[in-house]
Amino acid sequence: DSFLEDPIRRPGPGEPSLFLRVLDGEVAAKPPVWLMRQAGRYLPEYREIRATAPTFLDLCYDPKRAAEVTLQPIRRFGFDAAILFSDILVVPDALGLPTAFESGHGPKLKPVTTAEGFAELHGEVDMGRLSPVLETVERVRGALGPETALIGFCGAPFTVASYMVAGSGTPDQGPARDLAYRNPELFGRIIDRVTEASITYLSAQLDAGADAVMIFDSWAGVLPRLEYERWSQGPIERIVAGVRKRRPGARIVGFPRVSGGQLLRAAESGVTALGLDIFVDPHWADSVLPRALPVQGNLDPKALIAGGRALDEAVDDIRGAFGRRPHVFNLGHGITPDTPIPHVERLVARLRA
Ligand code: CP3
Repeated sequence: DSFLEDPIRRPGPGEPSLFLRVLDGEVAAKPPVWLMRQAGRYLPEYREIRATAPTFLDLCYDPKRAAEVTLQPIRRFGFDAAILFSDILVVPDALGLPTAFESGHGPKLKPVTTAEGFAELHGEVDMGRLSPVLETVERVRGALGPETALIGFCGAPFTVASYMVAGSGTPDQGPARDLAYRNPELFGRIIDRVTEASITYLSAQLDAGADAVMIFDSWAGVLPRLEYERWSQGPIERIVAGVRKRRPGARIVGFPRVSGGQLLRAAESGVTALGLDIFVDPHWADSVLPRALPVQGNLDPKALIAGGRALDEAVDDIRGAFGRRPHVFNLGHGITPDTPIPHVERLVARLRA
């Protein structure tokens, strides 16, 4: 494969992954880097393959093409980690909830708001439905050298449940928050079903060859303390414990998009590392998080669009803040389609200079 000769790669082909060494506690002189949503529409080679699949979900369930788009950013930029190409909403889909992605409109699911609606879900996640995703993991792991880690993922129960309840994206997950207060018993059953499914699904991804898994809790930040503890922190702790019971030592990265005290709580959930979003001040985070806890993040995707001096300054500020702890460089949110490819190249070159 051509990317194995890419001169910007470190460590060399066949050497152990820097990303995994940092998750295991090493402070690297130059941080490993990958970008959330790194396989995506800012890449012409992604758009070309995306155009051959009728819907986004078809692409997620096509192991050959999903593996190909997972590998594209590794070939082009030599990132230290690949992330499985899929979506957090394949879990509700595999729980029997009809799930679709309409071009330009985001996800559409059949909303679960009543006991009758909940009764239509499968009792357990249908791993047959998810077998193409696991085949993608196997294919990607087989195609990568040991110097590139493969990250699997799922959504956190609150974030996934919020889409199941609303049936679509919303500005602030109002429908899920209302249901959680109005009918905590029903909301709790939805959360528990997703929690169990996530333990099964993440364990299967690790068995298929994922080197680490990440739990995306994009919406936890809408919850006040008591609700956060009940619907976000607790279920994530159960996932971490459940996966580690099956897979001792599993590396699990949390990505709680929360602020202040809840970030400190998230650091206590048992995760191996914590992903930080763009609203977390890296200097503050470094001063309050446990000294040995690896962090990941948290460049503003807008700085990557801007490029030039603004990009360099933002990159150096984050590196400076996390220079004395294990740090994986990443964005604080997904890369967007309007990002110029030369700016991604500039970022990687600066981190490795
Ligand atoms: O990081 C990666 O490249 C891995 C793949 C990945 C996708 N989604 C692919 C995707 C991951 C890790 C996700 C996570 C995800 N999905 C989250 C959590 C992180 C976050 O962004 O907050 C959430 C909330 C979702 C649900 C989801 N998927 C929404 C709301 C949308 C529509 C809006 C959007 O950003 O386009 C998606 C679609 C989606 N997921 C796309 C991709 C590449 C775009 C589909 C397309 O090609 O048109």
